[in-house]
Amino acid sequence: MIRINENYTKLKASYLFADIAKRVGAYTAANPQSPAIRLGIGDVTEPLPPACIDALHAATDEMANRATFKGYGPEQGYGFLRELVAASDYAERGCRIEPDEVFISDGSKCDCGNIQEIFATDVRLAIPDPVYPVYVDTNVMAGRTGANVDGRYEGILYLDSTSRNGYVPAVPDAPADLIYLCFPNNPTGAVATRAQLEAWVAYARRNKAVILFDSAYESYIRDPGIPRSIYEIEGARDVAIEFRSFSKIAGFTGTRCAYTVVPKTLMAWDRAGNAHPLHALWNRRHTTKFNGVAYPIQRAAAAVYSAEGRSQTRALTDFYLGNARLIRDAMGKLGFACVGGDNAPYIWVNVGTDSWQFFDQMLSKAQVVVTPGSGFGKCGEGHVRISAFNSRENVEKALARIAAALA
Ligand code: MLT
Repeated sequence: MIRINENYTKLKASYLFADIAKRVGAYTAANPQSPAIRLGIGDVTEPLPPACIDALHAATDEMANRATFKGYGPEQGYGFLRELVAASDYAERGCRIEPDEVFISDGSKCDCGNIQEIFATDVRLAIPDPVYPVYVDTNVMAGRTGANVDGRYEGILYLDSTSRNGYVPAVPDAPADLIYLCFPNNPTGAVATRAQLEAWVAYARRNKAVILFDSAYESYIRDPGIPRSIYEIEGARDVAIEFRSFSKIAGFTGTRCAYTVVPKTLMAWDRAGNAHPLHALWNRRHTTKFNGVAYPIQRAAAAVYSAEGRSQTRALTDFYLGNARLIRDAMGKLGFACVGGDNAPYIWVNVGTDSWQFFDQMLSKAQVVVTPGSGFGKCGEGHVRISAFNSRENVEKALARIAAALA
């Protein structure tokens, strides 16, 4: 008799954004005359930058020509892109990352979800709350937790992120082995200072732990004092893996390209106490289960680093940050306490009521989709996340509708 992975039965029936899509779908089917404006899932709306489109066209032409056609590429990504990442995203900011420490992939969601495979099932987890649900759910699937009791899984050390700590959790007193951090944060939009990241790196070094640093929204940081990468912190090469994505900097949510950095100096240990480089393990996993990102897509991603690409992607992120400012100001004027939106495309709004109830109210009365905070964890209750990813026209319309619905 074939049996299931029973860890899946510990999960909520559906993934947060699938659940929201289902509710919005049902609402739209019942009310086809009032389409909803989506400020829920962080999905971009603006077209790819022209520099990326030009590169995509040119690479497509290469694929049409026998002399330049490409079949399987290197699983870890083409050298041209790995070199650009190492030079532009790291060397330019004073970080020492080698091109072969960069693994190109089809998304940070996949990488954040898959990375846990290279760690033992009995490692001690520390995960912020609220948090991008992929970190928790994939560890539940892998059997690293017990049951969900009162909205929290047994076996996870939750790092509460609330207004009391400015949504940046301090290092805990208890030891942990695998720590998830995300800055700029999804969902709160909070950023971590250098001193806060230094404390986390020191904690990880003390505990021989690994930090999984999700920095998918780093291109939204405008405060020059805020680190964009964990590798800007001395010693982080020995304790951290970093995830980055082209989705939110250049509109690649549908095009799919991201990367994960695994420094060769980063070690983890077997039961007998022997050290193993995680780079070799991730390389083994990646080459076994992944066949590389399409060549034209990698060429389009490489165009992000050209002079035109840099200015076009800056304009794109500035545009979404302009939306974020409008949202934060409007929600503030309605009397809600808000954070985020200045160095991140998300605004975290304290609505002071059940977050699914507020979601339903916004959907039915304003035809606006937001994300209920409780979907990100227990500490998210009483909040909603509003995404700045939409056209200016839709954001303005949504804000007017929200104000009218709450009047
Ligand atoms: C979000 O809305 O949290 C993100 O868009 C989800 C993702 O990037 O997978």
